[in-house]
Amino acid sequence: MPDTGAPLKLSPSVHAPIAHDSAEKHVSGEARYIDDLPEPAGLLHLHVGQSARAHARIRRLDLSAVRAAPGVVCVLAAADVPGRNDISPIMGDDPMFPEGEVRFVGQPLFAVAAETLPKARAAAALAVVEYDDLPALLTIAAAREAGAVIEDSQTMRLGDAQAAIAAAPHSLAGQLAIGGQDHFYLEGQVALVIPGEDGDLHVWSSTQNPTETQHIIARTLGLRDNAVVVEVRRMGGGFGGKETQSIHYAAIAALAATKTGRPAKIRLDRDDDMAMTGKRHAFESRWQVGFDDDGKLRGAAFELASRCGHSADLSIAINDRAMFHADNAYCLQAAEIVSHRLRTNTVSDTAFRGFGGPQGMMGIERAMDAIALRLGKDPLDVRKANLYGVSGDRTPYGQTVTDAVAFELMDELERTCDYRGRRAVVAAWNAEHPWLKRGLALTPVKFGISFTANHLNQAGALVHVYTDGSIHLNHGGTEMGQGLNIKVAQVVADAFHVPLDSVKISATRTDKVPNTSATAASSGSDLNGMAAANAVRAIKDRLIAFASREFDTPAILIDFTPAGVRIGDQLMGFTELVRRAYFARVSLSATGYYRTPEIHYDRATHQGRPFYYFAYGAAASEVVIDTLTGENRVTRVDILHDAGRSLNPAVDAGQIEGGFIQGMGWLTTEELVFDDAGRLATHAPSTYKIPTAGDRPDAFNLAIWQRGENREATIHRSKAVGEPPLMLAISVFSALTDAVASVGGHRVMPDLDAPATPERILAAVEDVRRRAGDHV
Ligand code: MTE
Ligand code: MOS
Repeated sequence: MPDTGAPLKLSPSVHAPIAHDSAEKHVSGEARYIDDLPEPAGLLHLHVGQSARAHARIRRLDLSAVRAAPGVVCVLAAADVPGRNDISPIMGDDPMFPEGEVRFVGQPLFAVAAETLPKARAAAALAVVEYDDLPALLTIAAAREAGAVIEDSQTMRLGDAQAAIAAAPHSLAGQLAIGGQDHFYLEGQVALVIPGEDGDLHVWSSTQNPTETQHIIARTLGLRDNAVVVEVRRMGGGFGGKETQSIHYAAIAALAATKTGRPAKIRLDRDDDMAMTGKRHAFESRWQVGFDDDGKLRGAAFELASRCGHSADLSIAINDRAMFHADNAYCLQAAEIVSHRLRTNTVSDTAFRGFGGPQGMMGIERAMDAIALRLGKDPLDVRKANLYGVSGDRTPYGQTVTDAVAFELMDELERTCDYRGRRAVVAAWNAEHPWLKRGLALTPVKFGISFTANHLNQAGALVHVYTDGSIHLNHGGTEMGQGLNIKVAQVVADAFHVPLDSVKISATRTDKVPNTSATAASSGSDLNGMAAANAVRAIKDRLIAFASREFDTPAILIDFTPAGVRIGDQLMGFTELVRRAYFARVSLSATGYYRTPEIHYDRATHQGRPFYYFAYGAAASEVVIDTLTGENRVTRVDILHDAGRSLNPAVDAGQIEGGFIQGMGWLTTEELVFDDAGRLATHAPSTYKIPTAGDRPDAFNLAIWQRGENREATIHRSKAVGEPPLMLAISVFSALTDAVASVGGHRVMPDLDAPATPERILAAVEDVRRRAGDHV
């Protein structure tokens, strides 16, 4: 029956705070992750043997005992790879299994496929590996000295920064080390592969990048792309750690399935995952600024150096993004940004929420605090004086900032969080308390949206309308908890004006929407939302043309409304129209495609318009430190974030809160420690401390900026929100700096590296005491 008679639910509008489509399934355990899928008969389980050395020639790799172990079905090493032995995304420098030489501790050497996981693991331990050690470069300093790089150093320039700094009334310089970060996704790396006919493979992978998984599996196995289907229903978190790093494991499982003709599953346990997979790049950041008496910049110079690990992975783009964000939200006037990309014998570092942007911003935010200290000003005033829109609009890469809203955001947050009142309270409190010290800081974020590799800024979608009026939605983006699927479903439901529960969210598959980009760079909803909207438009156009013919009504008088489809002066249910269109042989299925307009970038000169627009936010963090132990906590945070016209404020609030907390972990407690042999000493939650519920600031005031609106024609004028909020946590680092500085009466700038662990805070306090004493 047509749905015309039934009471119609109002169309679930975009911009509505709707729960994540899997929220209840996530908490009840009903959401299926790959390890929850029913195991096919004959399933083989994989375990990977790892290199024990950071850099060595393999003198002997004897796997005969592994092969002979109980339950072992096959053992795989470099010689077993039928196609190209390379799982790298771009540079061709990352073997699936090494041939002759290992380059980091934890590098996959071989894999064992056995009837059970314990048997595979036990067998792997029987491998005989003899190494001839080679010199290993484990740190940024060592790689720098040896001249070991992923690519040549890059420089971005605006005017003559060194001359501007030299001519400025004041100048300052400093440096800090910034630690990396483990992704700590709840679901580790996992893949299941079922072989089909003719050597075809169906791959379930926890990946942000189904298309590249497909391509690399085909390449390593010597297949055409069309022999491989990759499917992703959801990830239990990716955070950038499954943009490329998932592919290695999916490819090993695909190799095992191909060799044995049996289904194969690989699932790394936490310790192996942490040792074997790349992380956020550790950086060293040196900064130099020249400024006037008001704290306004005349010029700034940055030298960034990063630990990339043993291969390029995505390091080139990540370090580029660090350069793009060396200015954060500030007009530098004249700038010189130099970036060194160092090759080390550590795991190949990779994408992590912010993609180098967070590391890039740290230098200028340190500089803002240092300038304020030097001039005896409030750091907020120095920051506000230098914002784009206040002091200029030209970025070091030649893009003009036309959407600068950081001042408005900071101004509003300053008032709503009573920054000035609390500044006075903090100062009075610190004067009375000898051991506990409070700190306060309000910092902005400006984050460029678009992939800087231009070709990635495209997406596709597939929409089917069935004759009962239900809709099947597929698009090229992947769900990792960020709420991409619900947002795109909202876009589709809104365009057809049907209830949201008419839209079926489906797993991402390379045979439904091909040639997709990784869900990354926060662009998932921008790209896939628009592609889905374009698919809907195609179907609607056909329905309108049909209705126009059928009911002899001009197309202009046909409209999809929450009450049904208005055709002239009659109202018809969506299902009824669809059913009639079907009988009139009108196609009810369409693909949609979108590419971001107007962006361009010349990497040779580092000039262009790499970003379609910028996302903004501001956060005010208040902290307390114990100057006797270095212990610390964030007692309050106030956030005002610009999500444009948010597609889903409930989901976006989750992204903002989660991003902030993840950034707080990066800058305070999460410390990666490699020992002198290059082994990761912090490879489990026992030694690597991510924030817990107890670390959440006691007061957490979060607001999505009500006036936010994208000036560019993005999907419903929304803004990307996945990564930018992570950098709001720089306010925590700045507040900790403020608290430490109070020990010396704000006379000397604390030396503080990230993460600001209790040990580092304690050392900084003692150092400030000593230096401030010398000062008096
Ligand atoms: N949120 C959750 N819950 N889980 C994740 O893995 N990844 C982040 C961010 N938010 C992530 C997340 C990263 S690194 C990116 S690039 C974006 O989500 C990707 O999704 P989007 O483009 O749809 O925002
Ligand atoms: Mo996000 S780091 O771009 O996957």
